[in-house]
Amino acid sequence: MSTGLAVGIHDLSFATTEFVLPHLELAGHTGADPAKYHVGLGQRSMSIAAADEDIVTMAASAAAPLVARWGADRIRTVVLATETSIDQSKAAGVYVHSLLGLSPAARVVELKQACYSATAAVQFALGLVHRNPGQLVLVIATDVSRYDPDSPGEATQGAAAVAMLVGADPVLLRVEEPSGLSTVDVMDFWRPNYRSTALVAGRESVTAYLQALEGVWKDYTEQGGRPLGDFRAFCYHQPFTKMAHKAHRHLLGFTGNVVDEDRIAAMLALTTAYNEVVGNSYTASVYLALASLLDHADDLDGEAIAIASYGSGSVAEFFGVTAVPGYREHLRTEEHRRAVERRRPIDFAAYRELQAHALPVDGGHHPLPRQTTGDYRLAALSGHKRVYERR
Ligand code: COA
Repeated sequence: MSTGLAVGIHDLSFATTEFVLPHLELAGHTGADPAKYHVGLGQRSMSIAAADEDIVTMAASAAAPLVARWGADRIRTVVLATETSIDQSKAAGVYVHSLLGLSPAARVVELKQACYSATAAVQFALGLVHRNPGQLVLVIATDVSRYDPDSPGEATQGAAAVAMLVGADPVLLRVEEPSGLSTVDVMDFWRPNYRSTALVAGRESVTAYLQALEGVWKDYTEQGGRPLGDFRAFCYHQPFTKMAHKAHRHLLGFTGNVVDEDRIAAMLALTTAYNEVVGNSYTASVYLALASLLDHADDLDGEAIAIASYGSGSVAEFFGVTAVPGYREHLRTEEHRRAVERRRPIDFAAYRELQAHALPVDGGHHPLPRQTTGDYRLAALSGHKRVYERR
């Protein structure tokens, strides 16, 4: 039941990797028509992590500007969502907490459910803020998407982290109360503990996504959600950006709305600008779509925006947010543009070398090559421990 307290996203920032592989370069080696990637999948390039980057370094880079702007004092909880976990026991967020110099009087935890878990993190954060409106919860979605070389998924890799502060009286976005939910036991994408790359039934995963979208919309309506026409924009999980088009067309179709391709393309283009060049960032993907919308849309003051979050396996959620009047003063558009443009293009051989790079498992002391020019790096693996450093 609503308490009348406005809660939502107070700030949002993203970070990505040191390197980028253009799809044109990939096409040169797979023999695919570049149009398959550019038009068929809607991807131009993908972020590739340096040997000394991982989900922790990206998460710290994404979250540091939030701490710099709002201070660390009110952050009592850090929830890190990922499906490319680095440890079976220790939460990656504990390293991030340390790198950011947050207060020891905090709880830190990691969440997993494929690409969906960042949405669970946001919802759990809202609950904590309702209990203690004075606190801010740091939610971080961070992932490195990896498929086997020469598999169809190879063109849909990428990496990024999105950090959000969730709090009361947010200056960016109020999160609305009804959520539409769906959980279905389906094996469309998974990664057993002994594998570093995901297994995927590609076509089935697209169908499972669309079925989950039907499920969340039905539940959202039953929970008293807004009519579809209320929403000014729709941010979808984007494993590849054409998936947002498939999803939106599907939603309009099964709700009996007119499918106007030009209008769909114009609206979705605002949400796909970052994902097109960053690639799939799993848990971060739908929030990267949100960042893109906020950074590229004309004034959204007071407008309702739909968030459609999907994680294979599968769990999905649909909910609305409202842009707080004046939100544009708090955007980080210039920093986001720099995060994308600072990446260094690599060729196919360098990309494949990075993908083949595996961390040693013998427990010795292994300094890692200095590759990233970012603020945080994984400096070494020593005695089975990850050693991070700040520039
Ligand atoms: N010009 C324009 N479009 C082209 C093209 C060309 N020369 N060649 C192919 N295409 C189109 C295809 O028609 C298809 O479009 P459609 O889906 O609208 O029909 C699209 O490009 C992809 O081609 P397809 O043959 O289906 O690609 P694929 O077999 O290599 O696999 C995925 C595509 C998405 C299934 C694969 O990349 C994958 O498994 N990715 C990981 C899983 C994933 O992202 N799942 C999404 C839900 S979570």
